[in-house]
Amino acid sequence: MYVCLCKGVSDHKIREVVQQGARSFREVREQTGCATQCGKCACMAKTITREAVTRE
Ligand code: FES
Repeated sequence: MYVCLCKGVSDHKIREVVQQGARSFREVREQTGCATQCGKCACMAKTITREAVTRE
């Protein structure tokens, strides 16, 4: 499922960058571009990041 339509970032992509070492939403944003345009996806993307980091 796409989380960020502006940058074409999926929930899968967010989990992938967390698996590869990202530990905060700031890092996910830097690595994917997620939430760098309109920002509407930020809340959902933060939630997915938090869940993924907790699972690591
Ligand atoms: Fe993510 Fe617009 S949907 S920046």
